[in-house]
Amino acid sequence: MSGARPTYESGAADWDQKVSAFTGQYSPLLLDLLELQPGQRVLEVACGGGRTALAAGPRVAPGGSVVAVDIARAMLQLCRENCADAPVPVLPAQGDAARLPFADGAFDVVFCQFGLMLLDDHVAGAAELLRVLRPGGRLAVVVWAEAETMRSVGIPADAVDAEAPASWEHGRPALFRLGRDGALPDVLHRAGAAHVELTRQTHPDRYRDVEAYLRGHLEGRFGVARVVQSLPVHVQARVRERVRAGVRPYVRRDGLVLPCEAIYARAVKP
Ligand SMILES: C[S@@+](CC[C@H](N)C(=O)[O-])C[C@H]1O[C@@H](n2cnc3c(N)ncnc32)[C@H](O)[C@@H]1O
Repeated sequence: MSGARPTYESGAADWDQKVSAFTGQYSPLLLDLLELQPGQRVLEVACGGGRTALAAGPRVAPGGSVVAVDIARAMLQLCRENCADAPVPVLPAQGDAARLPFADGAFDVVFCQFGLMLLDDHVAGAAELLRVLRPGGRLAVVVWAEAETMRSVGIPADAVDAEAPASWEHGRPALFRLGRDGALPDVLHRAGAAHVELTRQTHPDRYRDVEAYLRGHLEGRFGVARVVQSLPVHVQARVRERVRAGVRPYVRRDGLVLPCEAIYARAVKP
């Protein structure tokens, strides 16, 4: 199972407050790529707070259904709350993307927003998404691009690389594992997907000022912040200075605005 689970169990409440609005910017294109139709059975994997599943519902009405899976119980609870009054019901289900609790071919459409890169085995994970899709059904995933264009995490990741490269527990952040050119289509092809098409989109990650950004990314519970906090205090200070220098070009009159690029793939199950 993915090593990401403990983070999301303990950080669920923070997640919805701070991150869902940011990741939600990427949902409309993901849903457009799926070309959802009334009556379809849809599965979202690694649904987090469930906001993309919620947005999918009206696109499959009337007669469609949406199931939203996440490994973290706390995230599913958020999903349950966020989707409580959904006009098209969203059914939350706990499950591991690596072993989905559904029969072969159970869905017409499967999608995964910022989840696939977190799995330990990307090809096996993508194959599992395809397994529960009916032949001819559509799959869409979105993952983060590399650090150079996903700046809100790329800048602190580069600072840790420069000051304390040995401190990564499992190599560079999982976030970037499918971000290099060709990685995502390679994974999907090896998993057995057909007609893989790629597109990229950049959205802003906005902060009131640099201090607010530093609090979120160097002191928060997620990702690089956890690594930074494990460093000796004097190394943390050097990382902080590098991050300050790194974000300087993105300071504007109305705050700090960091461009974050994502890579989308859609594919068909043969
Ligand atoms: C980066 S968040 C994305 C959440 C949501 N899709 C969004 O875009 O806001 C990653 C989510 O993947 C879930 N996750 C991590 N590993 C998983 C696994 N093996 N199976 C299912 N969900 C997993 C986490 O609990 C978390 O909710």
